[in-house]
Amino acid sequence: MAKTTLKKRSWAEPFKIKMVELLKITTPEQRLASIAQAGFNTFLLKSEDVYIDLLTDSGTNAMSDRQWAGLMLGDEAYAGSRNYYNLEKAVKKFYGYKYLIPTHQGRGAENILSKCMIKPGDIIPGNMYFTTTRLHQELAGGIFEDVIIDEAHDSLNPHPFKGNVDLAKVEALIKKHGAKKIPYICVATTVNMAGGQPISIENLTALRTLTKKHGIKIILDMTRVAENAYFIQQREKGYANQSIAAIVHQICSLTDGATMSAKKDALVNIGGFLGINDKTIFEEARNLVVVYEGLHTYGGLAGRDMEAMAIGIEESLHDDHIAARIGQVIYLGEKLQEAGIPIVEPIGGHGIFIDAKKFLPHVPQDNFPAQALAAAIYVDSGVRTMERGIVSAGRKANGENYYPKLELVRLTIPRRVYTQAHMDVIAESIAHVYENRKKIKGLTMIYEPKYLRFFQARFKPLS
Ligand code: F0G
Repeated sequence: MAKTTLKKRSWAEPFKIKMVELLKITTPEQRLASIAQAGFNTFLLKSEDVYIDLLTDSGTNAMSDRQWAGLMLGDEAYAGSRNYYNLEKAVKKFYGYKYLIPTHQGRGAENILSKCMIKPGDIIPGNMYFTTTRLHQELAGGIFEDVIIDEAHDSLNPHPFKGNVDLAKVEALIKKHGAKKIPYICVATTVNMAGGQPISIENLTALRTLTKKHGIKIILDMTRVAENAYFIQQREKGYANQSIAAIVHQICSLTDGATMSAKKDALVNIGGFLGINDKTIFEEARNLVVVYEGLHTYGGLAGRDMEAMAIGIEESLHDDHIAARIGQVIYLGEKLQEAGIPIVEPIGGHGIFIDAKKFLPHVPQDNFPAQALAAAIYVDSGVRTMERGIVSAGRKANGENYYPKLELVRLTIPRRVYTQAHMDVIAESIAHVYENRKKIKGLTMIYEPKYLRFFQARFKPLS
């Protein structure tokens, strides 16, 4: 009897589903009314009016049964909660940082770090800006300088490590301002605003050598460090046989400290921390945390949140978890590529980034092409995405708009939440919007908040 041979072996999620949350499907008329009421800003939509929510991968992950069980072990003491010590143990074991300051989320850590380390007039180089990170640097009197490689600003450049730091740009800043003016370099793993692009160990090692020579610290934004490690394992020579956990540990060992939004890779709905090796900075941060977050053994979190985070950190480093997580992102990205949709390449770690300048070449950047496209996708299918372009970039200190080269719509995939069928529905919707793209005319801004305007700005359609 002839044997059938399987040509291809599929992968599947390394979990099964124990509880489901029902979704509401709306009509195009309802969605048009909802987006108008939300001022054409997907941040202002009600979640119950959204079908598939790709606004962010932040705090939107599904926790495991082990994490939910951890919630029941919350020790809600004001001081010295058992869960704090469990979290401290996890941070030391998996990331290697000596001292831990828990915070309510990433920006809480950014605030404390910036206040401890930045003096007015200091220069803070970084591999591309992130909205909250740069704002806290600026509020502390610092000046952000982008030192990412040029390739990162080109949506189609296939460089495997578009998150890399351009060492020549760092050297030029040291030469111009002097090393004393640069308290640290902020290095993000994977770079959110570049499309979820990783940095290589080789680059980080070279940066370590350079910064050591000048007495400059490296502070990691380790929000998506496990996803970065996956790309190193897949793409960097010599790492194919290393575990995600080992690579993550090595990344951290090349830095002096880190801010973490645990709402992403660490698989929790709320939480973050500052990890640091320097005792003096730690002591100052531990003092400041009581001003802004809460006592240094809870930092604005419930004991149960810290327990879920400790467990999430460990689960986030499982090789099968991260392969399936990024596998799903790549699945969606390849579907969009097949439909001819212009996306940032290579496909990044936490989502797909549509190039709105290429999708809507007839809409000038001053009319917010990415904002308009995110609204149009929502009206088509109830899929909620996010603008990452001129609105997110905001204004400079002198009031002028930043004009970022990348004008993107982000389809961020929450971890362990949606199925492959959801990915198919998303791809079909975007292909449909692409066929009808000429109908999208752009927007004008009718309300602009002072800080982080993308969250609350309101728009109206041009026509
Ligand atoms: N750093 C990076 C790279 C981030 O992506 C975020 C949040 C933060 C810091 C701030 O952390 O939200 O916990 O205060 N990014 C979310 C997003 C908001 O949707 O990309 P947070």
